[in-house]
Amino acid sequence: MVGSRVVARHRLPSPDPATGATLTDVVGDLVAADAEFLTVATRLGDIRVARADLTALKVIPPRPARSGAPHLAISVEDLQRVMLPAWGAVERGVLGDWRLRAAAGFTQRGNSVVPVGSPGLPLTTAVERVEAWYAARGLPARFAVAGPAGFEPDEDPLGAVLLGGGYTVGSRTLNLTAPTATVAGADPGGPAVTISADLTPEWLTAYRRSRATLPETTERVLRDGEHVAFGAIAPGGGLSQTLGLRDRDAAGTTPVCLARLAIGDGWAGVGAVWTDPAYRRRGLAAHLTARLAAYAKDAGVDLVHLQVESDNAAALSLYRAMGFATHSAYAYLTAPQSMAP
Ligand SMILES: CC(C)(COP(=O)(O)OP(=O)(O)OC[C@H]1O[C@@H](n2cnc3c(N)ncnc32)[C@H](O)[C@@H]1OP(=O)(O)O)[C@@H](O)C(=O)NCCC(=O)NCCS
Repeated sequence: MVGSRVVARHRLPSPDPATGATLTDVVGDLVAADAEFLTVATRLGDIRVARADLTALKVIPPRPARSGAPHLAISVEDLQRVMLPAWGAVERGVLGDWRLRAAAGFTQRGNSVVPVGSPGLPLTTAVERVEAWYAARGLPARFAVAGPAGFEPDEDPLGAVLLGGGYTVGSRTLNLTAPTATVAGADPGGPAVTISADLTPEWLTAYRRSRATLPETTERVLRDGEHVAFGAIAPGGGLSQTLGLRDRDAAGTTPVCLARLAIGDGWAGVGAVWTDPAYRRRGLAAHLTARLAAYAKDAGVDLVHLQVESDNAAALSLYRAMGFATHSAYAYLTAPQSMAP
């Protein structure tokens, strides 16, 4: 939780003479936490709150960078930070403010750097350090360079350094954001949904149908996170009735629609959305995404993000219909193959 923006509600030593209140809130970045005290960096400086006086501690989204709806008012950099806990990795490294992730090559997100803030070193030296970190793991260095939607990586100072070093631009991704209430409200209805904190063998079996996976690494990446939930629609649970299928067409226990949710830094992140090709265009992904947004809302989370490749027309149309708006974008820049061991 250290590093997140929080609201720390705690008891006052004596009731406020003006209002009679016995509790007060401190809002700011949690910069330290030990057995006795929390230190919160506020606009007025650091405030120490004794754990003995604490009645509630809640992680809240970063401070808005501009006016407007909260899901669009967060800065590009803060959204990149908020997205960090939403996808897993096997190993995480730190270089100044930059965050490095590795997962034996499974997923681009799990094997890339989020270069937000300062690495604490000149850029070229920082890039060399990153390359060495990935080389030690048998992986090419890969950076997620972010900017406003439509930005070109060479407009970014780090992007220009990487392109000058022979890096190639891979898939371009859009960050979409929405209020959880809007997405929950776009539920077309449908068959029973299960939302579980456990990664079940059935969920994993369906996930393996959706993409190439790596035994053990995939499980670790999917489970990684403080608050992760696995959503599924499986045969049974009214699926055949809802879709007008004969029972034999909707048999078995392997889910036909999946999505994963991870909560961190006051935001929910949706990922791994997939519908079995035989069940597409029947509203299942919309129903499951809406139910996960409702789950996040019930957990006190107001904002949701997801990432979609900019050429995935089906997914973009699904998410836009549910109230998601384009917030920003990023592109993966990958080291030349000769640098990979
Ligand atoms: C994208 C995907 C999850 C959609 O699943 P789905 O269950 O078919 O989606 P839904 O039936 O709930 O679609 C709801 C709405 O989204 C839009 N939509 C979904 N698929 C679409 C497509 N292929 N083309 C255009 N619009 C589409 C439509 O507006 C649709 O409503 P409609 O059918 O009434 O027109 C599915 O195509 C899939 O698994 N694709 C491969 C994995 C993937 O790309 N996942 C997303 C990663 S970010």
